[in-house]
Amino acid sequence: MDQHYNYKVVKQFAVATVVWGVIGMLVGVIIAAQLAWPALNLDIPWLTYGRLRPLHTNAVIFAFGICGLFATSYYVVQRTCQVRLFSDKLAAFTFWGWQAVIVSAVITLPMGLTRGKEYAELEWPIAILIAVVWIAYAVVFFGTLLKRRVKHIYVANWFFAGYILAVTILHVVNGAVMPASLFKSYPVYAGVQDAMIQWWYGHNAVGFILTAGYLGMVYYFIPKQAERPVYSYRLSIVHFWALIFTYMWAGPHHLHYTALPDWTQSIGMVFSLVLLAPSWGGMINGMMTLSGAWHKLRTDPILKFMIVSLSFYGIATFEGPMMSIKTINALSHYTDWTIAHVHGGALGWVGFITMGSIYYLLPRLAGEQKMYSTRLIDLHFWVATIGIVLYIAAMWIAGVMQGLMWRAVNPDGTLTYTFAESVKATYPYYVVRFTGGFLYLSGMCVMAYNTWMTLRNRDTAVARIPGLELA
Ligand code: HEM
Ligand code: HEM
Repeated sequence: MDQHYNYKVVKQFAVATVVWGVIGMLVGVIIAAQLAWPALNLDIPWLTYGRLRPLHTNAVIFAFGICGLFATSYYVVQRTCQVRLFSDKLAAFTFWGWQAVIVSAVITLPMGLTRGKEYAELEWPIAILIAVVWIAYAVVFFGTLLKRRVKHIYVANWFFAGYILAVTILHVVNGAVMPASLFKSYPVYAGVQDAMIQWWYGHNAVGFILTAGYLGMVYYFIPKQAERPVYSYRLSIVHFWALIFTYMWAGPHHLHYTALPDWTQSIGMVFSLVLLAPSWGGMINGMMTLSGAWHKLRTDPILKFMIVSLSFYGIATFEGPMMSIKTINALSHYTDWTIAHVHGGALGWVGFITMGSIYYLLPRLAGEQKMYSTRLIDLHFWVATIGIVLYIAAMWIAGVMQGLMWRAVNPDGTLTYTFAESVKATYPYYVVRFTGGFLYLSGMCVMAYNTWMTLRNRDTAVARIPGLELA
């Protein structure tokens, strides 16, 4: 049995997270600029908003987000099970296979090749590659769990396991298509059933990738960085089961006031409201893990990333249930309020917990105790926090304004505003959002520099598995 952890693949994924983070956010800043200054489409089809927008979402979720989840789940499962990964070769395959998926997305999306389903845009040959890599991921992860030398399965692994399993099912069901040519296919479902399958997938992508996976990070890296045990282990298990059961039913809130039967919409709304409880249970558990160690927040910017991330998780999971109430959704849907909600979750929650965890990981993977510069981590934290506030405040105001302008009617029943007037009124907020996004991207570039300086000229650390020399 190998006596060392496999840090190589963890390091590869950690570095990929940083690199794709810069690229995905850069595309975000470009599309934010295009919304403010449409001339930036440059009349070049590959660079138009409609093609770059899915490139942004794919790059930030599947490249930045999932590379971060690969890195952390491979690290956590080894450390908490005290064994090396199940198979080095398969793990290496998941790294190169996943990079191939991302590169295919970077090429095909600007070419306009898309299935037209949000977050499931990639055409069928790439979707098959995703399935193959994902199954290899599942084999490595669950294989490692099976050969563990610690009897108990630590809760972070439950969250990672839930995310890996759920994504397999979601991807396969929503990916069922009839190919018409190499790069064109049609869904096997039709009409409103297709819409329902798509948003069952879409919402659970939020629930299992953008939530459960990152809660896996919360339960390992926050206790580690704070040097405190999880506040309530029992609560972590209860909230795991409550969360995964409830998320599965909430998808219809994306289809309010559509051809979807009314009762289905109401079920989606009710389960979304219920979701508030397990979500806040998790948030409070993470926050309370710091009880008795709050003073560390003054000096430890990594911990700041983690705690602020939980605050944004709390905001997004309060706002989400509110937006799922049909009468509120009647105002928020189609407006930038949704974009504010998305980026509160994406920049604040997903982005910050990933950055905090990767800052914890990187030096350890290079045999160091700390990143090259703690001051630069602090700088990153502040620049990014100001960026988020500008981004979401601008989109909140713009969103509510748009909703109110669209529904305003004169005494004679005609609309008070034309659509173009609402676009004009939104313009200043798009400029503010661009500024916020630019700041957030700048923070990510600072992280890239700090990563480079930390890893430069250093080999991957060799970490011995404790107790194995006795076995
Ligand atoms: C209790 C938890 C949550 C609930 C009930 C919830 C609910 C909602 C609702 C009602 C919408 C608007 C649907 C529409 O009008 O089209 C929405 C959109 C969205 N939410 Fe959440 N949300 C939650 C948490 C989160 C979190 C933590 C994230 C993480 C990033 C997130 C990401 C998104 C995304 C990406 C969309 C946009 C989907 C799209 O139209 O493309 N949500 N959510
Ligand atoms: C520099 C940072 C970022 C900027 C400037 C940015 C900008 C944008 C813009 C302009 C849009 C299109 C909004 C619209 O259609 O009106 C968008 C959509 C989206 N972004 Fe970002 N973004 C950034 C980071 C991120 C990150 C880190 C994530 C995820 C982890 C993310 C996830 C998404 C999602 C899911 C959507 C689609 C929302 C929907 O359809 O409702 N973004 N972003």
